[in-house]
Amino acid sequence: MKIILPLFTALLAVILYSSCKEETFYQGHSIYDSVCANCHMEDGTGLKGLIPPVADSDYLKNNMLDVACHIRYGIEGEIVVNGKTYNQPMAGIPYLTDTEIANIINYINNAWGNDYGMVPFKEMREKLKACEREEEAKRLEERAERIKNMENTER
Ligand code: HEC
Repeated sequence: MKIILPLFTALLAVILYSSCKEETFYQGHSIYDSVCANCHMEDGTGLKGLIPPVADSDYLKNNMLDVACHIRYGIEGEIVVNGKTYNQPMAGIPYLTDTEIANIINYINNAWGNDYGMVPFKEMREKLKACEREEEAKRLEERAERIKNMENTER
């Protein structure tokens, strides 16, 4: 009995851990297929010259925290993926929760032969908060600019 109990606990821990991990991938996979695959394709290869790949992407591997912000707030301007430059806007998807975003990143990090590990959840949340503040500052600046332009045309 002395041996069985720790063995049993360890086994239970392994089962719980792996089923939890599988669920993460399952949810990430289904959201990816329904909202990202339109552009990045189901196999993650993107669209030549227009949409960068997420399968075998050095950008994703090195910037997974930024990717969380791109998923929520979108991205525009030049971006270099595997040495190639892309410049098409990607719209943000504001209704995804922090957990859903983490699940998507964990899925693409480990799909199609990618082996980029799991996104650190706490850091990802902090990054999302920082991006929220930046987005808010951008909105205020644009608003101030609009008001200034309105005043100029009124004169
Ligand atoms: C409407 C098309 C479109 C959709 C939908 C879309 N993307 Fe993108 N994505 C792009 C484009 C275009 C870029 C490049 C942006 C640029 O040029 O600045 C990009 C960039 C990226 C990047 C960084 C570059 C790379 O390839 O590693 C990642 C990661 C990414 N998208 C993941 C996603 C995920 C995950 C989703 C779904 C939640 C998604 N995208 C939905 C078009 C899209």
